[in-house]
Amino acid sequence: MSKLILGLVGSPRRYGNCEVYIKEITTYMEFEHRLELIRLPGLNIMPCNACYSCIMDSPCPHKDHLERLIEHIVRADGIIIATPVYYFGAHSIFKRILDRGFLFYRYLEKTYGKPCILINIYGIRDRIGVSPQALMVLATFLGLDIKASVNIKAALPGEVFFSEVYRKKAKQLADIIFSEKKAINTYGCPFCSSEIVRMKKDYLICTLCHGRFRIDENGRRIKIKEGGVIGPPEHMFLHRDWLRGMKARFLSSRKKIMRAIMPLNSIGEWVNLD
Ligand SMILES: Cc1cc2nc3c(=O)[nH]c(=O)nc-3n(C[C@H](O)[C@H](O)[C@H](O)COP(=O)(O)O)c2cc1C
Repeated sequence: MSKLILGLVGSPRRYGNCEVYIKEITTYMEFEHRLELIRLPGLNIMPCNACYSCIMDSPCPHKDHLERLIEHIVRADGIIIATPVYYFGAHSIFKRILDRGFLFYRYLEKTYGKPCILINIYGIRDRIGVSPQALMVLATFLGLDIKASVNIKAALPGEVFFSEVYRKKAKQLADIIFSEKKAINTYGCPFCSSEIVRMKKDYLICTLCHGRFRIDENGRRIKIKEGGVIGPPEHMFLHRDWLRGMKARFLSSRKKIMRAIMPLNSIGEWVNLD
């Protein structure tokens, strides 16, 4: 049966590397497929109001593109997400989408387990910053199965084609997406393989799964404790339940909170930039 591939293009640049590399990957797919493309920076994604409506199973007050975007993810068999690196991070549209992630719970059982490939395109050697983390967090909270997270160096639009290595990589990614295999790095977090970690005094903490580990004198990664962030929907729903409890806690202590806040009410002047 024909597979539906959804390419989420994180670059505003027409014919930029994100767009053409997603297309290139699909040219190596040796099975019947159709590629749908969505240019994310063109979408209207409003900032989260932190109203918790969606957490409490009420509609989101924003009538923008987010839910339609998620419905396309639900319909797809496999997803390829590509971002340009901007200022050592992923394009800000991914954070906008992710900040509305409480809404993902509503779709999690339908998005869970869908294979995805994450691509970070950067222009200057080693200046990729924390970009891979943003895409991995997004994929994780959508419940997607990360088959590969790759970093591609290409500055000019279409420059990704200057490299034979990246063409070969595109074929590899096409082969992997619906296979049992994963192309996950062997040097990142020993729990989830994310390469972006925070340093604590005596150990490292993964910025994705929040597992703790250290590296011994032989370079081996020694697990200390799982982070508990990642899991199947029933595990992820535990966090949603906790959030619901927080809303209830807020409502029950509202009077006390207001008493503490109100004395500060007239402090400072709000600036209107219009
Ligand atoms: C505003 C802006 C910020 C950028 N910041 C970085 C950066 O921090 N590190 C880097 O390696 N490349 C950076 N780049 C280069 C892009 O990542 C690179 O050109 C990439 O190919 C863009 O992908 P695209 O062709 O799909 O748009 C930046 C480009 C722009 C426009």
